[in-house]
Amino acid sequence: MCKELKTLLLLGTIFLTTVSVNAQDTKLPAPDKKGGSSVMEALWQRKTERTFSDKKLSEKELANLLWAACGVNRPENEKRTNPTARNLQEVTVYAFLPDRVCLYEHKTHTLKTIAKGDHRNLLAMGQNFVLQAPVTLLMVVDMALYTKHDEVAVTMGAADAGIVSQNINLYCAAFGLNTVTRATMDRAAIAKLLGLTPDQVPILNNPVGHSK
Ligand SMILES: Cc1cc2nc3c(=O)[nH]c(=O)nc-3n(C[C@H](O)[C@H](O)[C@H](O)COP(=O)(O)O)c2cc1C
Repeated sequence: MCKELKTLLLLGTIFLTTVSVNAQDTKLPAPDKKGGSSVMEALWQRKTERTFSDKKLSEKELANLLWAACGVNRPENEKRTNPTARNLQEVTVYAFLPDRVCLYEHKTHTLKTIAKGDHRNLLAMGQNFVLQAPVTLLMVVDMALYTKHDEVAVTMGAADAGIVSQNINLYCAAFGLNTVTRATMDRAAIAKLLGLTPDQVPILNNPVGHSK
């Protein structure tokens, strides 16, 4: 095969790979600036709910939910709805959907597919209500962003994941959705599925859905 043809084939392969990777990404609709109940009403409504109807979340609901969890609310400095210790921004959120698992890329407000298929059983671990929820958000903390891996760092990481979970809880309360903060999950299997480094630790997850 001549050199030019080889180069052409190589370029074609790179182009097709890029296109197929990008095809996996879903740009979410812009988050709303209004809506839901007041903060006081949401706090009165906030509660654990472990039942979910078959109804899926609309793309808009999913976009608003993810943005509420940890989206960018100050684009000028890429700061987010969730505070983090020393602004480390070490919490990332994954969405477990019935047909795929996605990473929420907060900077671009995009869902990037990480794994195909239904992997909600790795979160359920016998709590079968998780299999009914149309989406579960998983909070993963990257401990590599802490210079010292001491007890304080572990506490800060867990606190920061808890704040994201509470953002989800309040969003759900404000919009009449059901959710529950959970620590139960198969961490080792999830780490393998998502290709996490040993420093990236799954901390909490929140199944979210409509009430029955
Ligand atoms: C850090 C944390 C971990 C939790 N883990 C689970 C869990 O794995 N499974 C579950 O069903 N509920 C879990 N819960 C929910 C609690 O059981 C629930 O919040 C508690 O019973 C109080 O009820 P409330 O949320 O309605 O106030 C967890 C809550 C927190 C804050």
